Amino acid sequence: MSKPVAIVTGAGSGIGLATARHLLTHSYRVVLAELNPLTGLAASTSLGPDTLFIQCDVSSYPSQALLFKRAYEWGGNRLDFFHANAGIDDRQLLYDSMDKEEVDEEGLVKPLNTNSMQVNLEAVVQGLWLFKYYVRRSPGGRGKFVATASAAGLYCMTQNPQYTASKYGVIGFVRASGPVFAKEGITVNAICPAFIPTNLCPPEILPLWPKEHITPMTTAFKAIDAILADDNMTGETIELSQENIYFRKMADWANESQRWIGEESQGIWDLGYQKVPERPTFGA
Ligand SMILES: NC(=O)c1ccc[n+]([C@@H]2O[C@H](COP(=O)([O-])OP(=O)(O)OC[C@H]3O[C@@H](n4cnc5c(N)ncnc54)[C@H](O)[C@@H]3O)[C@@H](O)[C@H]2O)c1
Repeated sequence: MSKPVAIVTGAGSGIGLATARHLLTHSYRVVLAELNPLTGLAASTSLGPDTLFIQCDVSSYPSQALLFKRAYEWGGNRLDFFHANAGIDDRQLLYDSMDKEEVDEEGLVKPLNTNSMQVNLEAVVQGLWLFKYYVRRSPGGRGKFVATASAAGLYCMTQNPQYTASKYGVIGFVRASGPVFAKEGITVNAICPAFIPTNLCPPEILPLWPKEHITPMTTAFKAIDAILADDNMTGETIELSQENIYFRKMADWANESQRWIGEESQGIWDLGYQKVPERPTFGA
């Protein structure tokens, strides 16, 4: 039987590169999706013939759709694992001072840069959409999707509010979709690293950072291994801190009514939506 095939995004550096290397030890063939052609190619050269570098901007849907098509074909018409990992921090500060505020020629306030939300959240959502298409057309039709969220999605990071929102979004997305996709053999989980030294962090930070608050890359492997080992684990949010992984649950129900809505009203929603002939498109 042919080897299983994985795509890892942001595979030119940091957690993505390390996960790609780790998947090779699990006998995967790995597509290294990366925006930066230099690091992507260097990664593929160093990791060897069971890898393929495909340059991709995950925040562009056509670019990510082409990535999936090429990866599936390279894998011999199969796809088994997708790590939606590429991520960036905020490219504009929400709290910028008045002198940095700008208006356009019509006097309208220019929008805040939300690139981090496009890369960290929108691309993850589209990534699962694409992944399920190709898994359904792969031998066996089973797959594992893992998104790199962040501890910022469980707590918050005041220096990066759009980033924080994107990571909360990823966790909500995984929790909502994971149990549904598991019914057809696709597991959907998120990992939430604390501080792992990578190129994400501005180089000025590292010398200031206390060593005892560093999470080693091996903790990420523990989470990936837990996902690989369990075909039924889905909708999980796995926090990585220091040497440990923690399975984090949703907030407690505030009261019995909220529990009922969360756990027992699904039948009503299903019935109600069945009566909607088609979901209205935007603006309709
Ligand atoms: N390192 C940490 O402490 C930490 C903590 C929490 C979450 N994370 C998350 O881990 C993920 C990986 O980050 P990292 O720490 O390895 O950082 P990194 O900067 O070392 O690696 C991220 C990679 O993603 C690539 N990338 C960026 N935009 C892209 C795009 N549009 N399309 C394709 N590739 C793109 C970058 O070029 C880079 O190679 C991110 O989602 C990040 O938010 C990291």
